[in-house]
Amino acid sequence: MKRYHVTTFGCQMNAHDSERIKGMLEELGLGEAASQEEADVLVFNTCTIREKPDQRFAAHLGNAKVLKRADPEKVIAVGGCYAEAQRDKLFDLYPFVDVAFGPGTIPHLAEWLGAGGEAPRGRFGTGAEREFAGTLPMHRERRFQAWVQVSMGCNSVCSYCVVPAVRGREVSRRPGEILAEVTQLASQGVCEITLLGQNVNSWGRDLLPDVKTEFGELLRACNAVDGVERIRFTSPHPKDFRREVIAAMAECDAVCEHAHLPLQSGSTRILKAMRRTYSRERYLRVVDELRAAIPDLALTTDIIVGFPGETARDFEETLEVVEEVAYDGAFTFVYSPRQGTEAAAMANQIAEETKRERIERLVELVQRVAEARNRERVGRIEQVLVEGPSRTDPALLRGRTRRNVTVNFAGASAPGDLVDVRIEGATSTTLKGTECVPHPAIHAGPWPAITRRESPPSPLPRLQALAAVECGLSLGARNPEAGRHDWKGH
Ligand code: 5AD
Ligand code: SF4
Repeated sequence: MKRYHVTTFGCQMNAHDSERIKGMLEELGLGEAASQEEADVLVFNTCTIREKPDQRFAAHLGNAKVLKRADPEKVIAVGGCYAEAQRDKLFDLYPFVDVAFGPGTIPHLAEWLGAGGEAPRGRFGTGAEREFAGTLPMHRERRFQAWVQVSMGCNSVCSYCVVPAVRGREVSRRPGEILAEVTQLASQGVCEITLLGQNVNSWGRDLLPDVKTEFGELLRACNAVDGVERIRFTSPHPKDFRREVIAAMAECDAVCEHAHLPLQSGSTRILKAMRRTYSRERYLRVVDELRAAIPDLALTTDIIVGFPGETARDFEETLEVVEEVAYDGAFTFVYSPRQGTEAAAMANQIAEETKRERIERLVELVQRVAEARNRERVGRIEQVLVEGPSRTDPALLRGRTRRNVTVNFAGASAPGDLVDVRIEGATSTTLKGTECVPHPAIHAGPWPAITRRESPPSPLPRLQALAAVECGLSLGARNPEAGRHDWKGH
């Protein structure tokens, strides 16, 4: 049997695309190889958001070149965002690459292999030629967690970002298709879903007037699927946390108490140059609205330092916002000019040394603030979805709280279990604890009770009804008045 190996760079969308690439290759009869060396087909699913992934990919391709020289029968395939960005130069830069495709043209790899290499070497595109990877078979790493793609592309014009150029304009997947997938996943034992889109919470706008809907309705419809205990979504944009979305987050008991709210900069002047479409004040208002609606909400963010023209004062404003919001975690980045973006052509680029100083100060503050937030959890009991053994101490288990914090804990539960854990310690990125164990002498009833918010009864989400018509789903809801039914796609 021929074997494949997929190396993935970049974001969760890319990781999910890789699940589809693997599923597609397995459907062609290939098995998975443990390493690049053992594979007949080497796939690199690339990222180009910053310079670093570009460099990492170049190092990997160096290795692939050596393998190809030793065995010319090996197929080297390059997909994803870097491939799309370099579509005109890729085969000149790396002549030993056999086949290439963009993030929207994944099926091309199977077509090319199926045609014995007789099809065109490259297929790219950011327009109508793109297909949702959601229509391909999938190879999932975990049986109880799954990503569900809800949209592709991005309509924002952030001046630093290469994504719109490589993933194209935003197209929403139809609600019927999304709900059919969520329902099928739940019936296979998935209890946590993460809805994925480059701008996930603007989902649905382009479906107008065909299906009049918005992201909050999608959350409600997913919440109504039996078996779905946790719903997450990424990556959202602060401008799209509208009233309806926040209300749905607050009301749906499966939607986790976590919002990722990319700040990028705390200076309104820089936000304007970044074309983020919100000011510092507007951003802070969204934070207030979210916290008012969802008590105990965890907030994480993305921040860039050293954007062109960023003054010492602008940077101080970023630090002020970090302190004021008190994030539970943050991804921090040094600005990296990307070819073809508006910001890369700006004259006032910041010196590397200044960027370095700023990122160090920012990281230090983020760690201090996040550690204080995590310390507040000590003494509480948190619901944890068990993922496996701890990475640092195999005697412990590892899982995630609803607020998306990793917990290493002593316990006897199995991956996929939802358990209560007493929190006993905290660092800036993890919690430590002990699983609450039932004690028959003390507790007659089921113990521990899973701590989840109670949702008020709601009418059957309108989107479910729409999706049912579209996909022939049988309906059920968490609504006690409506009774509980099994949801099955068929
Ligand atoms: N330089 C540095 N960071 C960037 N990001 C996106 N583009 C760039 C860039 N050119 C960051 C943003 C985004 C995250 C996914 O990556 O913070 O939210
Ligand atoms: Fe990287 Fe952006 Fe592509 Fe994700 S969408 S793989 S972050 S360039």
